[in-house]
Amino acid sequence: MAVGIFDSGLGGLTVLDAVEKRLPDVPFVYYGDNAHAPYGVRDADDIFALTCAGVERLWAEGCDLVVLACNTASAAALKRMQETWVPEDKRVLGVFVPLIEALTERQWGDNSAPREVAVKHVALFATPATVASRAFQRELAFRAIGVDVEAQPCAGVVDAIELGDEILAEALVRSHVESLKRRMPNPEAAVLGCTHYPLVEGAFRAALGPGVKVFSQPGLVAESLADYLARRPGMLGPGRRARFLTTGDPENVSSKATQFLRRPIRFEAA
Ligand code: DGL
Repeated sequence: MAVGIFDSGLGGLTVLDAVEKRLPDVPFVYYGDNAHAPYGVRDADDIFALTCAGVERLWAEGCDLVVLACNTASAAALKRMQETWVPEDKRVLGVFVPLIEALTERQWGDNSAPREVAVKHVALFATPATVASRAFQRELAFRAIGVDVEAQPCAGVVDAIELGDEILAEALVRSHVESLKRRMPNPEAAVLGCTHYPLVEGAFRAALGPGVKVFSQPGLVAESLADYLARRPGMLGPGRRARFLTTGDPENVSSKATQFLRRPIRFEAA
Protein backbone atom coordinates (compact mmCIF):
# COMPACT_ATOMS: atom_id res chain seq x y z
CA MET A 1 0.00 0.00 0.00
CA ALA A 2 2.95 2.33 -0.52
CA VAL A 3 2.79 5.80 -2.11
CA GLY A 4 5.75 7.48 -3.81
CA ILE A 5 6.91 11.03 -3.15
CA PHE A 6 9.20 12.47 -5.81
CA ASP A 7 11.37 15.55 -5.46
CA SER A 8 14.39 17.04 -7.17
CA GLY A 9 16.20 16.88 -3.85
CA LEU A 10 15.58 17.58 -0.20
CA GLY A 11 12.81 20.18 -0.35
CA GLY A 12 10.11 17.54 -0.80
CA LEU A 13 10.79 16.41 2.75
CA THR A 14 8.53 19.30 3.83
CA VAL A 15 5.71 17.55 1.94
CA LEU A 16 6.75 14.07 3.13
CA ASP A 17 6.62 15.22 6.74
CA ALA A 18 3.07 16.52 6.31
CA VAL A 19 1.73 13.45 4.46
CA GLU A 20 3.30 11.08 6.99
CA LYS A 21 1.58 12.95 9.83
CA ARG A 22 -1.77 13.00 7.98
CA LEU A 23 -1.60 9.33 6.83
CA PRO A 24 0.45 7.52 9.51
CA ASP A 25 -0.51 4.04 8.26
CA VAL A 26 0.72 4.57 4.70
CA PRO A 27 4.36 3.66 3.94
CA PHE A 28 5.89 6.42 1.79
CA VAL A 29 8.86 5.88 -0.50
CA TYR A 30 10.74 9.15 -1.01
CA TYR A 31 12.93 9.69 -4.08
CA GLY A 32 15.26 12.68 -4.15
CA ASP A 33 17.09 13.33 -7.41
CA ASN A 34 19.88 15.09 -5.56
CA ALA A 35 22.46 14.28 -8.25
CA HIS A 36 20.55 16.52 -10.67
CA ALA A 37 19.16 19.20 -8.32
CA PRO A 38 18.31 22.01 -8.61
CA TYR A 39 15.68 21.52 -11.32
CA GLY A 40 14.67 25.19 -11.16
CA VAL A 41 17.34 26.24 -13.65
CA ARG A 42 16.89 23.30 -16.11
CA ASP A 43 14.86 23.29 -19.33
CA ALA A 44 11.50 21.51 -19.68
CA ASP A 45 12.81 18.50 -21.70
CA ASP A 46 15.49 17.85 -19.16
CA ILE A 47 13.05 18.09 -16.24
CA PHE A 48 10.63 15.74 -18.08
CA ALA A 49 13.32 13.07 -18.64
CA LEU A 50 14.65 13.23 -15.06
CA THR A 51 11.17 13.19 -13.53
CA CYS A 52 10.09 10.16 -15.62
CA ALA A 53 13.22 8.27 -14.51
CA GLY A 54 12.45 8.97 -10.85
CA VAL A 55 8.78 8.05 -11.16
CA GLU A 56 9.69 4.73 -12.86
CA ARG A 57 11.99 3.96 -9.94
CA LEU A 58 9.10 4.57 -7.53
CA TRP A 59 6.80 2.32 -9.57
CA ALA A 60 9.46 -0.39 -9.17
CA GLU A 61 9.06 0.07 -5.38
CA GLY A 62 5.36 -0.83 -5.68
CA CYS A 63 4.10 2.76 -5.60
CA ASP A 64 1.34 2.91 -8.24
CA LEU A 65 0.57 6.46 -7.14
CA VAL A 66 3.38 9.03 -7.13
CA VAL A 67 3.06 12.61 -5.89
CA LEU A 68 5.43 15.09 -7.51
CA ALA A 69 6.25 17.14 -4.43
CA CYS A 70 8.50 19.25 -6.64
CA ASN A 71 6.72 22.31 -8.05
CA THR A 72 9.25 22.62 -10.84
CA ALA A 73 8.55 19.04 -12.01
CA SER A 74 4.78 19.55 -11.51
CA ALA A 75 4.95 22.74 -13.57
CA ALA A 76 7.34 21.70 -16.33
CA ALA A 77 6.68 17.97 -16.78
CA LEU A 78 3.43 16.71 -15.22
CA LYS A 79 0.98 17.66 -17.98
CA ARG A 80 3.19 16.03 -20.64
CA MET A 81 3.64 12.94 -18.45
CA GLN A 82 -0.10 12.56 -17.90
CA GLU A 83 -0.91 13.13 -21.58
CA THR A 84 1.82 10.99 -23.15
CA TRP A 85 3.52 8.69 -20.70
CA VAL A 86 1.66 7.48 -17.57
CA PRO A 87 0.07 4.01 -18.14
CA GLU A 88 -3.60 3.32 -17.31
CA ASP A 89 -2.94 1.53 -14.02
CA LYS A 90 -0.66 4.22 -12.55
CA ARG A 91 -1.20 7.81 -11.38
CA VAL A 92 1.10 10.80 -11.02
CA LEU A 93 -0.26 13.83 -9.17
CA GLY A 94 1.26 17.28 -8.72
CA VAL A 95 1.19 19.95 -6.05
CA PHE A 96 -0.38 22.87 -7.92
CA VAL A 97 -3.97 21.69 -8.06
CA PRO A 98 -4.47 21.32 -4.26
CA LEU A 99 -2.99 24.78 -3.81
CA ILE A 100 -5.22 26.35 -6.42
CA GLU A 101 -8.29 24.55 -5.07
CA ALA A 102 -7.54 26.10 -1.66
CA LEU A 103 -6.93 29.53 -3.15
CA THR A 104 -10.19 29.41 -5.09
CA GLU A 105 -12.09 27.87 -2.16
CA ARG A 106 -13.09 24.73 -4.07
CA GLN A 107 -13.64 21.26 -2.72
CA TRP A 108 -10.85 18.84 -3.65
CA GLY A 109 -11.52 17.48 -7.14
CA ASP A 110 -14.31 20.01 -7.99
CA ASN A 111 -13.97 20.39 -11.77
CA SER A 112 -16.89 22.75 -12.42
CA ALA A 113 -16.54 25.81 -14.71
CA PRO A 114 -14.27 28.71 -13.71
CA ARG A 115 -15.95 31.37 -11.57
CA GLU A 116 -15.26 34.66 -9.79
CA VAL A 117 -13.42 34.18 -6.49
CA ALA A 118 -12.77 36.44 -3.51
CA VAL A 119 -9.02 36.85 -4.12
CA LYS A 120 -8.14 39.15 -7.03
CA HIS A 121 -4.40 39.84 -6.64
CA VAL A 122 -2.08 36.88 -6.10
CA ALA A 123 1.69 36.88 -5.71
CA LEU A 124 3.43 33.67 -6.79
CA PHE A 125 6.94 32.91 -5.53
CA ALA A 126 8.65 30.01 -7.31
CA THR A 127 11.78 28.83 -9.11
CA PRO A 128 12.68 30.36 -12.49
CA ALA A 129 11.56 27.17 -14.34
CA THR A 130 8.19 27.10 -12.55
CA VAL A 131 7.57 30.77 -13.34
CA ALA A 132 8.63 30.27 -16.99
CA SER A 133 6.20 27.34 -17.41
CA ARG A 134 3.14 29.50 -16.52
CA ALA A 135 1.56 26.24 -15.23
CA PHE A 136 0.15 28.00 -12.16
CA GLN A 137 -1.70 30.57 -14.29
CA ARG A 138 -2.92 27.79 -16.63
CA GLU A 139 -4.35 25.67 -13.79
CA LEU A 140 -5.84 28.76 -12.13
CA ALA A 141 -7.61 29.78 -15.36
CA PHE A 142 -9.45 26.41 -15.35
CA ARG A 143 -10.96 27.30 -11.97
CA ALA A 144 -11.20 31.08 -11.55
CA ILE A 145 -11.77 34.22 -13.59
CA GLY A 146 -10.52 37.75 -13.01
CA VAL A 147 -7.50 36.85 -10.86
CA ASP A 148 -4.33 38.84 -11.48
CA VAL A 149 -1.17 36.76 -10.83
CA GLU A 150 2.25 38.39 -10.48
CA ALA A 151 5.02 35.80 -10.45
CA GLN A 152 8.44 36.31 -8.91
CA PRO A 153 11.27 33.93 -9.91
CA CYS A 154 13.23 33.53 -6.68
CA ALA A 155 16.73 32.85 -7.97
CA GLY A 156 19.18 31.65 -5.34
CA VAL A 157 16.78 30.83 -2.50
CA VAL A 158 16.84 27.04 -3.02
CA ASP A 159 20.64 27.00 -3.23
CA ALA A 160 21.00 29.07 -0.05
CA ILE A 161 18.66 26.71 1.83
CA GLU A 162 20.49 23.63 0.49
CA LEU A 163 23.77 25.17 1.68
CA GLY A 164 22.23 25.75 5.11
CA ASP A 165 22.81 29.53 4.78
CA GLU A 166 19.69 30.84 6.49
CA ILE A 167 20.86 34.46 6.59
CA LEU A 168 21.43 34.54 2.82
CA ALA A 169 18.13 32.72 2.16
CA GLU A 170 16.19 35.25 4.26
CA ALA A 171 17.95 38.23 2.65
CA LEU A 172 17.09 36.84 -0.79
CA VAL A 173 13.46 36.32 0.26
CA ARG A 174 13.23 39.97 1.39
CA SER A 175 14.68 41.19 -1.88
CA HIS A 176 12.37 38.99 -4.00
CA VAL A 177 9.32 40.16 -2.03
CA GLU A 178 10.38 43.82 -2.48
CA SER A 179 10.83 43.27 -6.17
CA LEU A 180 7.38 41.71 -6.49
CA LYS A 181 5.78 44.49 -4.47
CA ARG A 182 7.15 47.06 -6.90
CA ARG A 183 4.94 45.41 -9.57
CA MET A 184 2.02 44.43 -7.29
CA PRO A 185 2.01 46.70 -4.22
CA ASN A 186 -0.97 45.09 -2.44
CA PRO A 187 -1.33 41.35 -3.05
CA GLU A 188 -4.17 39.77 -1.07
CA ALA A 189 -2.62 36.32 -1.17
CA ALA A 190 0.84 34.86 -1.68
CA VAL A 191 1.62 31.37 -2.89
CA LEU A 192 4.87 29.72 -1.81
CA GLY A 193 5.27 27.61 -4.94
CA CYS A 194 8.42 25.68 -4.12
CA THR A 195 9.07 22.82 -1.72
CA HIS A 196 11.87 24.68 0.02
CA TYR A 197 9.98 27.86 0.84
CA PRO A 198 8.07 26.53 3.89
CA LEU A 199 11.51 26.40 5.52
CA VAL A 200 11.73 30.23 5.21
CA GLU A 201 7.99 30.89 5.54
CA GLY A 202 8.59 33.28 8.46
CA ALA A 203 10.77 35.50 6.27
CA PHE A 204 8.11 35.55 3.51
CA ARG A 205 5.37 36.41 6.03
CA ALA A 206 7.45 39.17 7.66
CA ALA A 207 8.37 40.74 4.30
CA LEU A 208 4.82 40.51 2.94
CA GLY A 209 3.22 42.03 6.05
CA PRO A 210 0.16 41.02 8.07
CA GLY A 211 -2.57 41.68 5.47
CA VAL A 212 -1.40 38.97 3.05
CA LYS A 213 -2.75 35.43 3.29
CA VAL A 214 0.14 33.00 2.72
CA PHE A 215 -0.58 29.63 1.08
CA SER A 216 2.03 26.98 1.83
CA GLN A 217 1.81 23.54 0.28
CA PRO A 218 2.65 20.72 2.71
CA GLY A 219 -0.61 20.78 4.72
CA LEU A 220 -2.74 21.34 1.61
CA VAL A 221 -1.08 18.48 -0.29
CA ALA A 222 -1.52 16.15 2.69
CA GLU A 223 -5.25 16.93 2.96
CA SER A 224 -5.81 16.50 -0.73
CA LEU A 225 -3.87 13.20 -0.83
CA ALA A 226 -5.94 11.87 2.10
CA ASP A 227 -9.10 12.82 0.24
CA TYR A 228 -7.83 11.25 -3.01
CA LEU A 229 -6.97 7.96 -1.29
CA ALA A 230 -10.34 7.85 0.46
CA ARG A 231 -11.96 8.12 -2.98
CA ARG A 232 -9.43 5.87 -4.79
CA PRO A 233 -8.14 3.32 -2.24
CA GLY A 234 -7.19 1.04 -5.16
CA MET A 235 -4.32 3.43 -5.97
CA LEU A 236 -2.44 2.32 -2.86
CA GLY A 237 0.24 0.22 -4.57
CA PRO A 238 1.60 -3.22 -3.63
CA GLY A 239 4.75 -1.79 -1.92
CA ARG A 240 4.99 -2.41 1.82
CA ARG A 241 8.15 -0.67 2.93
CA ALA A 242 8.92 3.01 3.58
CA ARG A 243 12.30 4.00 2.14
CA PHE A 244 14.38 7.05 1.29
CA LEU A 245 16.12 6.83 -2.08
CA THR A 246 18.56 9.29 -3.60
CA THR A 247 20.55 9.60 -6.80
CA GLY A 248 23.11 11.59 -4.81
CA ASP A 249 25.58 10.52 -2.14
CA PRO A 250 23.48 8.71 0.52
CA GLU A 251 25.77 9.72 3.42
CA ASN A 252 25.74 13.38 2.57
CA VAL A 253 22.01 13.46 1.73
CA SER A 254 21.11 11.57 4.94
CA SER A 255 23.00 14.06 7.06
CA LYS A 256 21.31 17.08 5.41
CA ALA A 257 17.88 15.38 5.59
CA THR A 258 18.39 14.69 9.29
CA GLN A 259 19.06 18.43 9.79
CA PHE A 260 16.01 19.38 7.69
CA LEU A 261 13.52 17.15 9.51
CA ARG A 262 15.28 17.18 12.89
CA ARG A 263 15.02 13.38 13.12
CA PRO A 264 17.33 10.62 11.87
CA ILE A 265 16.79 9.85 8.17
CA ARG A 266 18.76 7.18 6.27
CA PHE A 267 18.87 7.49 2.51
CA GLU A 268 19.86 4.58 0.26
CA ALA A 269 21.24 4.74 -3.28
CA ALA A 270 18.34 4.78 -5.79
N1 DGL B 1 11.83 21.11 -5.45
C1 DGL B 1 11.85 22.24 -6.32
C2 DGL B 1 10.50 22.95 -6.39
O1 DGL B 1 9.62 22.68 -5.65
C3 DGL B 1 12.87 23.26 -5.89
C4 DGL B 1 14.27 22.82 -6.00
C5 DGL B 1 14.80 22.75 -7.41
O2 DGL B 1 14.96 23.78 -8.07
O3 DGL B 1 15.09 21.62 -7.78
O4 DGL B 1 10.31 23.81 -7.20
